[in-house]
Amino acid sequence: MRFEDKNVIITGGAGGIGQALVELFASEGARVLFSDRSAEDCGDLAAALKRKDLECEYVAGDLRRRSFCAQLIETAVERLGGLDILINNAGTIPRGNIEETTDDMWFNALDVNLNAVFFLCRAAIPHLREAGGGAIVNTASTWGLYPGPDHIAYCTSKGALAAFTRCLGRDQAPDNIRVNAVCPNEVNTPMLQSGFLRRGIDPARGLEELGKTVPLGRVAEPDEIADVIAFLASDDARYVCGATLEVSGAKAVYG
Ligand SMILES: NC(=O)c1ccc[n+]([C@@H]2O[C@H](COP(=O)([O-])OP(=O)(O)OC[C@H]3O[C@@H](n4cnc5c(N)ncnc54)[C@H](O)[C@@H]3O)[C@@H](O)[C@H]2O)c1
Repeated sequence: MRFEDKNVIITGGAGGIGQALVELFASEGARVLFSDRSAEDCGDLAAALKRKDLECEYVAGDLRRRSFCAQLIETAVERLGGLDILINNAGTIPRGNIEETTDDMWFNALDVNLNAVFFLCRAAIPHLREAGGGAIVNTASTWGLYPGPDHIAYCTSKGALAAFTRCLGRDQAPDNIRVNAVCPNEVNTPMLQSGFLRRGIDPARGLEELGKTVPLGRVAEPDEIADVIAFLASDDARYVCGATLEVSGAKAVYG
């Protein structure tokens, strides 16, 4: 019960890694408010967790709207009674090189993967400070640290998110607010499966083949990333601050 009495916000909660996060934090005693785009998906997750005797709250909305980001923090603080941990996990993955990337794809990547994190963190920090400190964990990507091929908007947004994490980690450390990022390589979620489908590859077959390219022998499952995020958010990581932690099964991005 590492998160007993902790108030936690999780974005992208209805997605692959997000669902694992919501369940993990709720089962370790946290008061959780999660968010995602679709009210129906959020409701389904809350109902599934209730069947396991786990409670959580949710607010559906689009993180590309600044007003929604600020409102999400205020609503969470009001409903949970404060804020100790913010998990910026929502993300989107436009695929393509520069000539294939439209204005919308570019702005979408930056709005969801970077700008929303800025708005959420800015609104959250006074509340974390009021609580005497806290933790922010961002989900970046190894593809933001190294040049993955043909995903220029995604890689740029995740690279900026990694830099943002290091800057914010430095600036907020004196407030006892630890800011870190997890940088996964490939994870078995709808985001990865959409890439297989786009290339006409059967997802099960694609997963097996991709697993062979990972030195550890398989693609990560969502709970394996959620566990690292929970570690970074917990007191076990009390001296980890401004870090971008690669969780890749030792797979390099690009040879
Ligand atoms: N799956 C991978 O291989 C992989 C690798 C590295 C990093 N990541 C990162 O992990 C995080 C979680 O992704 P996932 O793999 O679980 O994928 P996912 O697509 O299952 O989950 C992403 C979630 O973000 C939500 N989201 C997207 N745009 C939004 C918006 N405008 N407003 C509100 N919510 C929005 C989606 O609805 C979805 O539920 C993302 O930040 C992603 O970039 C994933």
